[in-house]
Parts: sequence; C-alpha cells; structure tokens
Amino acid sequence: MNEIPLFSSLSIKSITLRNRVVLSPMCQYKAKDGMINDWHLQHYSRFAFSGLGAAFIEATGVLPEGRIGHGCTGIWSDDHIEGLSKIAKTFKEYNCVSGIQLAHAGRKASFLRPWDGASPISRDDKKEPAWQTIGPSAIPINENSPVPKEMSLEDINNVKQAFKVAAHRADKAGFDIIEIHGAHGYLLHSFFSPISNQRSDQYGGSFENRIRFAREIIADIKSVWPDRKLIFYRLSSIDAPGEGATLEDNVSLAKVLKQAGVDVIDCSSGGITGSPVLTKSKIIPGFQVPYSEKIKKEADISTMAVGAIIDGEQANNIVANNRADLVAMGRELLADTQWVYKAATHFNLENAKDYLPDSYSFYLSRRDEFLDRTAKPA
Ligand SMILES: Cc1cc2nc3c(=O)[nH]c(=O)nc-3n(C[C@H](O)[C@H](O)[C@H](O)COP(=O)(O)O)c2cc1C
Repeated sequence: MNEIPLFSSLSIKSITLRNRVVLSPMCQYKAKDGMINDWHLQHYSRFAFSGLGAAFIEATGVLPEGRIGHGCTGIWSDDHIEGLSKIAKTFKEYNCVSGIQLAHAGRKASFLRPWDGASPISRDDKKEPAWQTIGPSAIPINENSPVPKEMSLEDINNVKQAFKVAAHRADKAGFDIIEIHGAHGYLLHSFFSPISNQRSDQYGGSFENRIRFAREIIADIKSVWPDRKLIFYRLSSIDAPGEGATLEDNVSLAKVLKQAGVDVIDCSSGGITGSPVLTKSKIIPGFQVPYSEKIKKEADISTMAVGAIIDGEQANNIVANNRADLVAMGRELLADTQWVYKAATHFNLENAKDYLPDSYSFYLSRRDEFLDRTAKPA
C-alpha cells in the first residue's frame, strides 16, 4: 500500500484502479431517447481528467420503460453504443477506469426530472408521456404513485434478457466495470424487499426466492461479460428503520452476490419507500460507512462506501481503517472536479501533479514557484 491508503492502487482481476476515489453514478436527465449527447460528453470529460481511480456513467436504462424518466441514458439498442463508447474511451485516455451502471427503475420509473418535481409523470402529459410501470407486485410506492403491473414470468424473462444484451453492449462500448443497480427502490431492490415483493411464486416469499431475480441477472450478465472485467452491485444496505430488509439481510445478500461472481458491493441505502433513510433530520458525513464496514467484514467481500464523503482526511481514514476498499463520491466531485488533486496536495504527495492533465500541472507548478501566497494582496 502507498503511505496514504487513499492513494494506493487497487487491482481486482485484470483491472487496476490507480487510487481509491470513484465517481458515483449520477443521472443527468439530459438524454433524449437514451442517447448520449454533447452534454454527457462534456460532463464526463471533466471527470476523465480529474485523477479518479474509476468513474461511473449514470443509471442507464436496459429498456426504455426501465428509465426513471425521459432524460435518462439508455442501452436498449445498438444505436446507443457509439455515444457510450466515446465516454469510455475518454476515461481510458486519462487512466480512469470506466464503469457504467445498468438499471431498471421498476415501479419508480415514469418520473419527472428532480427539478420538475420528481413525482410520477401525469397521465395528461402529452409532450413526455407517462408509461405503465412494472414491479414484483402491484404495490405502489405510496398513495400518490401509480400502481405498477405485477410482472409475469414472461416480463421477468424479458428484463433478464435486456440486462444480458445490455452487458454485451457495455463490453462493446469499452467499459471495464458494470455496476448493477440493486438499490434505491428500483426493480432489483423491489424484488429483494418484502415491502414491495409479496409474490407467492418462485420470485417471492423466502430470502432465496427474493434474491432469485438478481442471481439470474448476474448469471446472464456473466455469460456475455468477459471474466477479466469487473461487476459491482449497488444495494440498499437497509430499507428503512424498523421495516423491510435489514443490514443483516443485506450481509446475507452480499454473501450470495459474492458466490454469484460480484467483485465489489457498493453500499448505499433506502429508497424503497420513496425517500432516503433518515434517522435524524440531517445526514452526517459518512453516514453509510458503517454499512460498508459490516458488509465488508461479515460477507468477506470488497466494498465501496458512499454518501457524504467530503474531504481527503475522511476518505483516507475510511480506507486506512479497512471500512471500505473504495470511496465513491457524488456531489463533492460535482462541486470540485479537482478534488483528487487537492487531496493529493493536502497529503503532500510528490506525484500530486499526476492527478491533473499535464497542460494544467505544468502551469500550476510554475505559478507556485513564483507566487508568494503569504504576501498581502496588492
Ligand atoms: C445528481 C445526482 C444523480 C444521481 N443519480 C444516481 C444514479 O444514476 N444511480 C445511483 O445509484 N445513484 C445516483 N445518485 C446517488 C449518488 O450516486 C450517491 O450515492 C449519493 O449522491 C450520495 O453520495 P454524495 O453524498 O457523495 O453525493 C445520484 C445523486 C445525485 C446527486
């Protein structure tokens, strides 16, 4: 390990991340028909040269009706490969391992963009119409949400097939990591949670039955995804205080996922009842790190911690104390794409400049040579 654990590399299978900082998947809601456009190319390029170990493209729909809303990126057609491959190529060019999150939103699909209210699209919307959502059971998220259609075995097979073809396309596009979205109340999570899954067939009831769908999807993905590449699984470590799937249930899930061939568990939480898990009125820095720590220890699998990881010291302590192998960050990186470089200078790393493109680092080091920062401004 490097002296500063956050900046040590991590190798899993054939893939090496140069440090432990990862861009968490973040929907942009800027696509049309799922296609990558100039916005995505500009947005993700900023992170390609941010010195990150790896970066994930946002939740990308394996089917059009699996999108959260009309602006989500998609991978349900071969036409999507070209745009996605441009982003994967840019990540690679700057030594950032490229990941894509594959998703089906299930009963939380057909939603408005966050800044338009993040509520179900109205049946009267002519411009961006609502669509029929699906789920394990005909149970809506709450009284204001439409009732999803209970999936038939044929529906289940269609979604499995869609994940498999999507994984093949992700490989063709050049990604090195697939993250399966199994959290936040979306389709896979809704099969796992007893709150949303009340089926009486082989996909509902017992723990074994509620994880069947995820296991089959992983097996299908593995049949087309090269062994040397990685599979991450994002789960919701707990559903909600006092109801639904517990942290212990998720430790059991992580053990099964490891057996199934998942390399890293990305430990998020909540979403099955529509809102994040809040035990107090505000979250605290690193509020989900204890979930990662427990899952890592008890399921004996690599984990990624996420959620309000703010500064370098905090992030480094998480890795140094073996509470996670990786730290994923969302909003802090949106606010500061040079976060990794700044953390590297905070730790006085000799190679801090390697976390910037050379055309930036050359001029920054020259500026620092001639600038007296302690002097009173003229
Ligand atoms: C703008 C935005 C979009 C997000 N989109 C996704 C997504 O596509 N998939 C996902 O699993 N989580 C998504 N999240 C959650 C983030 O990946 C992350 O887990 C969360 O923001 C907590 O990390 P942070 O405190 O560092 O932002 C999103 C969060 C934000 C702020």
